[in-house]
Amino acid sequence: MKTRHKFTAYLLIVILPLIILSIIYWMHLERSIQKERLEQAEWAGTVYQEYIDQVIRETKENLELLSLSSSVLYMDNEKTELLLKWIKDTDSRYAGIYCLNRDGVSISGTNKNFNHYYLIEQKDIELAVKTQRAVVVGTKELYNPAYNYFSIFAPILDHDKKVQGFLLAHIRLDHMENMLKILSPTHTFILETKDKTRILDRNADGFTGHSKWVDIPLTEVDWKLSVKVPDKINTNNMNVFLMLVFFTFFFTHMIYTIIEELIVRRNTKNQKLLNERQKIDFVGTLAASTAHEIKNPLTGIKGLVQLLVEKHPEEQDQFYYSVIMKEIERINSIVSEFLILGKPMAQTSSLYDIRSIIAELRPIIESEARHFNIEVEWNIIKEPILVHCTKDQLKQVILNIAKNGFEAMEVGKNLRVRIHHENEWAKIMIIDAGQGLSEKEISKVFDPFYTSKKEGTGLGLFVCKRIIESFNGTIEFSSKPLNGTTVTISLPLIKDHP
Ligand SMILES: Nc1ncnc2c1ncn2[C@@H]1O[C@H](COP(=O)(O)OP(=O)(O)OP(=O)(O)O)[C@@H](O)[C@H]1O
Ligand SMILES: [Mg+2]
Repeated sequence: MKTRHKFTAYLLIVILPLIILSIIYWMHLERSIQKERLEQAEWAGTVYQEYIDQVIRETKENLELLSLSSSVLYMDNEKTELLLKWIKDTDSRYAGIYCLNRDGVSISGTNKNFNHYYLIEQKDIELAVKTQRAVVVGTKELYNPAYNYFSIFAPILDHDKKVQGFLLAHIRLDHMENMLKILSPTHTFILETKDKTRILDRNADGFTGHSKWVDIPLTEVDWKLSVKVPDKINTNNMNVFLMLVFFTFFFTHMIYTIIEELIVRRNTKNQKLLNERQKIDFVGTLAASTAHEIKNPLTGIKGLVQLLVEKHPEEQDQFYYSVIMKEIERINSIVSEFLILGKPMAQTSSLYDIRSIIAELRPIIESEARHFNIEVEWNIIKEPILVHCTKDQLKQVILNIAKNGFEAMEVGKNLRVRIHHENEWAKIMIIDAGQGLSEKEISKVFDPFYTSKKEGTGLGLFVCKRIIESFNGTIEFSSKPLNGTTVTISLPLIKDHP
């Protein structure tokens, strides 16, 4: 292949597919990673939300339950304190639990420092009085980062459902954060109240406007949990991408190498065939022209030897002359075959009915058969079979093949000649019952000078093939050792004869 063609092929087979596939991989990778990260963030958010909701719900329930035993709580401050302390100690989520009066002032609890302090705001007290249910405090004023907790309180009701005071629990944010970290350690999240007070956050320092967040509302309180979707591509994904690109390059490069190798092989084969054909053409033409020049002096020599035969009747001389004559005959037969090689170019073909050619050839083949003590069976269809050929050459081919059949058979056997047409082809089949040929022998029969016979030239089939190919036909051998041989000549059938 030329360098320019090579470059174009490389561009089309390797570079272009590599670029296109890389873009597709990249897009696909980005999309699937994005989806995966989003799903991960949603999953983590749901897990966090369930935990926070569970803490709030359980605390609310506990406080509401405890407030039912209001008589105990109000009768004896000491007992109340012991009870609250016991509850706080058994549950690590609580920073402290307090009993407050109707105004939200602490009267007893787990931390005495808070006694006589307002621990809830008026508006939250009003909400609890109104709903008579536990309230989660999420206001800015009460949330002091130094304390690191948030509050839940429930009203203590008397028999007439009037609010007597409140029970308040401080929930530890550090404990909650640790638990969330255990549930899913890698995610960044923020927990905010309705008025954007940040209750809890983790790794949220790197917050940028480009980051994507998934918002999950809590069910127990009107707060919002936001979980950050991690950045799109990390080194791991990059490695996957680079590996895919590498394998694609490796694969396309391999395809390119295979194609290149196939093209080189095909070109070499074509070149070899062309060389072979040119060689045969050259040898054929040379042989034919030389043969022509040999024929004339050979005829002269033959005439003179004939004279010598008559002149020297002694037995010894006659033996020598007979050997000379036999050798001259042999040269003559080789030269005749060579002459035919040159003829396809010299003679022009015309339209013939194969049956008429066979009619002329039949007596010659039959006399030859008699010589070998063999019978010939003719099987010829009744309608005309028209082909373009040179009459003498086609005769020569059929005769050569029939002779090979006679030579291959034992005395008393039959040679069959079948002439018919099949689709677009006229078929001449010469079937003998001789010793047959192996696959390997069949591959050699058309080579020039290939012969298994003592007296053979090995040119018969070589010439036959050349002639049949000059008529645009084919000649095929099918045989098995000891099973006879079928030689099929196929010539293009002429159908529309004017
Ligand atoms: N019908 C056949 N059965 C068995 N072998 C065959 C048959 N036809 C050809 N062959 C084999 O092919 C070889 C080549 O045949 P080809 O006609 O080219 O030359 P040849 O017959 O040996 O010599 P020539 O044709 O000059 O007498 C033969 O020597 C023979 O071995
Ligand atoms: Mg022969």
